[in-house]
Amino acid sequence: MKIIKLDEVDSTNTYLKNLQDKNDYDTVIALSQTQGRGRRGNTWISQNGMALFSFCIEENNISQEDYIKVPLMAGIAVLRGLYCVEKLDYKFKWTNDIYLEDKKISGILVEKICNYFIIGIGINVNNIDFGNISDIATSLRNTTQKYYNIDDIILTVINEFKNVIKLEWSEILSEINNKNYLLNKEIEVVKMGENIGRGIARNISQDGSLEVLINNKIENYYIGEIHIKR
Ligand code: BTN
Repeated sequence: MKIIKLDEVDSTNTYLKNLQDKNDYDTVIALSQTQGRGRRGNTWISQNGMALFSFCIEENNISQEDYIKVPLMAGIAVLRGLYCVEKLDYKFKWTNDIYLEDKKISGILVEKICNYFIIGIGINVNNIDFGNISDIATSLRNTTQKYYNIDDIILTVINEFKNVIKLEWSEILSEINNKNYLLNKEIEVVKMGENIGRGIARNISQDGSLEVLINNKIENYYIGEIHIKR
């Protein structure tokens, strides 16, 4: 496992994608990113005090059919890693976000390049300035007023991923459903700006999709942005 630490980079995911001769768990950590990327082509605004890192896993270790499961495994690794550092009530928001007190504390971007999964994670750790997203974002320090060692958090999360990948899928699913932020919330599923379903979120299903109760019938969603109706 190689660890590459950079003061500044465009995106740790892009850097790792372009890195030749990768091995499992090679990791890129940056203090700041100039072009941090989120899902669906969004920008991830990267600030000092965040944990910004990416690591890779060779596809032989995760089958192609399991693609949808990788973000869930990464989600559990972040939930567990954060819990090791600070015992708070973190939740998993399908497909890729970690929430604390109804605000986003971490986002995960999983990409596939050749036969590697690149797992990019941003965690709000010591940063406290959320500008115009302060109603939807939080950090560890924002919640506890304490400072944290960012490298420790990163290594703890990666270690937890190594544990999670060894689990049976049923164990992973039950752990993630125990932390399902969306459970029983009224939601809208949005794909490319279009509302493709509205109903009550239920469990994350055996195949990693989200079950949504619509007109007394369970519909499964595999992708989409979730908007919570308040
Ligand atoms: C999201 O919430 O949409 C996913 C955000 C993922 C951000 C992390 S920060 C480290 C890694 N490098 C990137 O460019 N993105 C991920």
